[in-house]
Amino acid sequence: MTQADWSDPTLAIDDDELVAVERSVLSALHRRSVDDLRVLGFGEAGLAVAWPADEPRLVLKRLMSTDEPGESRHLFELIERYRAAVEPHVVVAPTETRLITDDEGRSVPYMVQWLYAADDLLENVLAAHTPDPGFAALVALRDAALSALGDGRQILDSQPSNFAWVDDTLVFFDIGTPFLYDDDGPVLEFGAMLETMPAALRPLVRREIGKVNSHLGTPFGNLEHAALGLVRIGQERWLDAAVACFNERLREPLDVATIAKRGETFRRQLRFFKQTMRVQRAWVTRVRRRSYDFFITDSWTGEIL
Ligand SMILES: Nc1ncnc2c1ncn2[C@@H]1O[C@H](COP(=O)(O)OP(=O)(O)OP(=O)(O)O)[C@@H](O)[C@H]1O
Ligand SMILES: [Mg+2]
Repeated sequence: MTQADWSDPTLAIDDDELVAVERSVLSALHRRSVDDLRVLGFGEAGLAVAWPADEPRLVLKRLMSTDEPGESRHLFELIERYRAAVEPHVVVAPTETRLITDDEGRSVPYMVQWLYAADDLLENVLAAHTPDPGFAALVALRDAALSALGDGRQILDSQPSNFAWVDDTLVFFDIGTPFLYDDDGPVLEFGAMLETMPAALRPLVRREIGKVNSHLGTPFGNLEHAALGLVRIGQERWLDAAVACFNERLREPLDVATIAKRGETFRRQLRFFKQTMRVQRAWVTRVRRRSYDFFITDSWTGEIL
């Protein structure tokens, strides 16, 4: 199923229910344990929860934002622009954006999506099949990623864990980080993300994000990122097939050794970011006595830090 009908009551979640979820998320944050939530994934920025817990049919994605409602609305606008920009290149999961007000009056942005069956997630499809450079889902991922790069205005985060493969159609669902570009460069400012880090380090982190952004904006870098995503989901056995598939359309060829090296660099970079977030959390909560409402996780292992 690639379409969702939001007027279908089995797909809807009302504001009270969403606020209740946010309450559980806040409690999980304070306990640093998510045992009573069905967490599907921690990204670098957000949290994806399957809902309702007993028989999930939706995915609720808590987005990163400050508690400034205007900022969340701006993020929603960018997400909508991003959806329209990538749609010519790949089917996008139907997505509803929702701004809720929690018990303390804070605004929290969420995205709501249909929950794709586990068997339809690309990472599980790959796990269930023998590596093959001509595997249709892999070819579709490569072609969508390259097509999106065509005019330099948007890129896909091409990690396999961001896609479903439904009735032989590739579906992209990770639209919460809108990688849009205009004449001045990246449109998204990552302001909320930077605020989770110490002020002194923000220029450095901004530079690092800039480097990652430009790398992802090239065919080589974007498909290297897709291949790296295979390592991240424990599908190294697909690397040779993916490299062969991707190289059919790359002028500068990828090789497995370079991907492994880049993987180490990327992981080190992420560890550094998470370390700086822990410093900021200690400062915000112990010195300024304010709350720090973001999970800090090792997004490779899922460990809560
Ligand atoms: N609509 C969906 N149906 C089923 N599973 C989903 C859906 N959306 C996300 N997931 C699962 O949750 C994980 C995390 O979601 P997603 O990729 O959208 O965000 P993220 O990677 O956590 O965020 P970010 O890229 O902003 O850091 C996915 O890798 C996938 O396993
Ligand atoms: Mg993702």
